[in-house]
Amino acid sequence: MEVIILPSSKEIGALAADAIEELVRTKPAAVLGLATGSSPLPIYDELARRHDQDGLSFTQAHGFALDEYVGLPVGHPESYREVIRREFTNRVDVAPDNVHGPDGSAADIQAACLGYEEAIKAAGGVDLQILGVGTNGHIGFNEPGSSLASRTRIKTLADQTRQDNARFFDTIDQVPHHVVTQGLGTIMAARHVVLVAFGAGKAAAVRDFVEGPVTASCPASVLQFHPHATILVDEAAAAQLAGAATYRHAYDNKPEWQGL
Ligand code: F6R
Repeated sequence: MEVIILPSSKEIGALAADAIEELVRTKPAAVLGLATGSSPLPIYDELARRHDQDGLSFTQAHGFALDEYVGLPVGHPESYREVIRREFTNRVDVAPDNVHGPDGSAADIQAACLGYEEAIKAAGGVDLQILGVGTNGHIGFNEPGSSLASRTRIKTLADQTRQDNARFFDTIDQVPHHVVTQGLGTIMAARHVVLVAFGAGKAAAVRDFVEGPVTASCPASVLQFHPHATILVDEAAAAQLAGAATYRHAYDNKPEWQGL
């Protein structure tokens, strides 16, 4: 796990975008794992800017969303399919048919989840998975207690997560109780994971998953077992890391050829 502490979300977005740009330029048909929420927005803004200004192209790339609410009508502005379209894929040139998301409105959710796993596999697996982290340590919507080996399935949102996400809805009552999410095992199969976190509200979660024990009580801690996990945090989110000086030293002295 590589922890990189940067001054602001803008630098975080730019560094994550560097890794995505390099991937897409060397492998145009790359498979990107797409998160929603606030954390990835600086990355999507930067990728859209590079698309507009530098000709960065995603025509052959594929995108797989991490998760989706269950019970929101198709086309609901806060459904993650719509959020990903609005915040990222409509701003670049990804082919709409290459963008996939778990189906939260399927009549047979379990079959849809299996189908989603198959679709990821058929695309060749995720090359780079963008992640945020919940204040309770979730990644995707794998809430505390999730199996570390889980695959795409339905989950019940923790109260904390519904409260955290109420800002996207008029009232908390409108936040669905259920979601379909890639599992922790699914996320761990991505070849590179890039988790971004900023703000003091994430400091305890970042401390726990980076430096605490690997435990289902803090689902993001499973990333300690990932062979290529990059954690990009701002100063506020890094504030409770005991090893901050070590991480800074390693990054400051990193051989340039290594990239992210
Ligand atoms: C979103 C997702 C969640 C969020 C997490 C942090 O697709 O999977 O794990 O990344 O809840 O949300 P923000 O970034 O809004 O703080």
